[in-house]
Amino acid sequence: MINLNGVNQLYGGTQILWDLDLQIAKGSCTCIMGRNGVGKTTLLKCLMGLLPVTSGKLLLDGDDFTRKTAESRAHNGIGYVPQGRDIFPLLTVEENLRVGLGARPDKAKEIPGRIFELFPVLNEMMHRRGGDLSGGQQQQLAIGRALVIDPKVLILDEPNEGIQPNIVKQIGDVITKLNEEENMTVILVEQKLGFARRVGKDFRLMEKGRVVASGPMTDLSDELIAKHLAV
Ligand SMILES: Nc1ncnc2c1ncn2[C@@H]1O[C@H](COP(=O)(O)OP(=O)(O)O)[C@@H](O)[C@H]1O
Ligand SMILES: [Mg+2]
Repeated sequence: MINLNGVNQLYGGTQILWDLDLQIAKGSCTCIMGRNGVGKTTLLKCLMGLLPVTSGKLLLDGDDFTRKTAESRAHNGIGYVPQGRDIFPLLTVEENLRVGLGARPDKAKEIPGRIFELFPVLNEMMHRRGGDLSGGQQQQLAIGRALVIDPKVLILDEPNEGIQPNIVKQIGDVITKLNEEENMTVILVEQKLGFARRVGKDFRLMEKGRVVASGPMTDLSDELIAKHLAV
């Protein structure tokens, strides 16, 4: 469903992504892994249209999306949870979620109730300001905001960074539920091996701006981990 072919990306004079190829199947739950600085966030930003690619192609269900704006990608059902969450600290939880509604093609006015079933804490905190929530609650809000558009594809960039273990567990369960029960395609950047193995069904390993290994999660061997993940 998502195909990147020969993608190159440069920040100023520095090339970050090098002839990168990536295939993501519909309904899969793919974990993108690799050490700090290999280009995982850059890859997701290119997927989302937040950074232009220098060359190469991006296809969504066979359609060329390479030059489409981030907004039109959201309209076409790609939801994105950025690294560091990026919620609006001065807006309430409800207002943060309503911001997501603007990207819905049907212009619905109501926040889907499903979000509060998945994250009851957002209902309890509805009128609190985003900045007053704990880190874990802010992450749940960021995921909820991405879900407001009923995405076909959900992209998450290190959702567990700096979050307490019980919320990490809840977030993992929600990702699995969305993938298995709603057949949502999930692309997850994750550094924690235990979480990646529990939640991811497939892996892609990155090194220096390229995908260097891929397969079902059960094929992620100790040898690959030692070579591409261990510090
Ligand atoms: N805004 C930027 N300007 C210039 N270089 C950047 C910028 N953002 C990231 N980089 C560089 O791009 C490389 C890849 O970064 P990133 O995609 O964030 O990696 P990862 O998410 O795998 O840790 C790093 O070397 C980083 O220093
Ligand atoms: Mg990153």
